[in-house]
Amino acid sequence: MGSYLNILKKRTIRRFQPRPVSFSLLKKCVNAARLSPTARNEQPLEFVAVNDTTQVTMLNEAVHFGGVVKEKGRVKGEEPKAFIIIIADKERADAKYIGMDVGIAAETIVLTAFESGIASCVMGTIERERIKGVLEIPNSFEVPLVIALGYPLEKSVAEDETKGIPYGVDEKGIMHIPKRPLEKVLHRNRF
Ligand SMILES: Cc1cc2nc3c(=O)[nH]c(=O)nc-3n(C[C@H](O)[C@H](O)[C@H](O)COP(=O)(O)O)c2cc1C
Repeated sequence: MGSYLNILKKRTIRRFQPRPVSFSLLKKCVNAARLSPTARNEQPLEFVAVNDTTQVTMLNEAVHFGGVVKEKGRVKGEEPKAFIIIIADKERADAKYIGMDVGIAAETIVLTAFESGIASCVMGTIERERIKGVLEIPNSFEVPLVIALGYPLEKSVAEDETKGIPYGVDEKGIMHIPKRPLEKVLHRNRF
């Protein structure tokens, strides 16, 4: 499927099937991220791909599922089955652009995973020092973002916020994500 159609369908998922995620799949995601654009082609990012069960369990305790979905990702058996940790080499990176490089790499990972049926959650509310300790990441690196991955166990749909459907899980267990409508965010030729 083309990437535009994937972008329309792909949502954040926080409940995962017990099925493991293979290392070769994580490797494919990182390979795509490696080829993503970076400011001045500085390529400051490296990636720690984790599917070892013990490491995944420790990482899952150092990330926080957000807002209306706080309790998700914590249910026994429904936890993420893999993580990709984006790390940034402070010496290679221009601080001004690092967040942009990270964001592009994160979405590249998410879309590559989605193409293979793997769902994900980009996570910024994370205990960075704890993650560094678990993964033995040197101090010269920052940990800007983590991506939790696994085969999806929930459904999530995006709707125009004008429909008034509340943000959150309905009685059927479907997650609803209100989005600002296109007319509100697209400016034609001038603001
Ligand atoms: C930079 C960034 C950080 C995020 N951090 C978290 C997080 O720490 N915990 C979490 O549960 N979701 C996190 N999310 C997921 C957002 O909550 C989610 O993208 C948003 O609710 C919209 O849902 P959608 O991705 O399905 O469109 C993060 C997303 C981004 C882009």
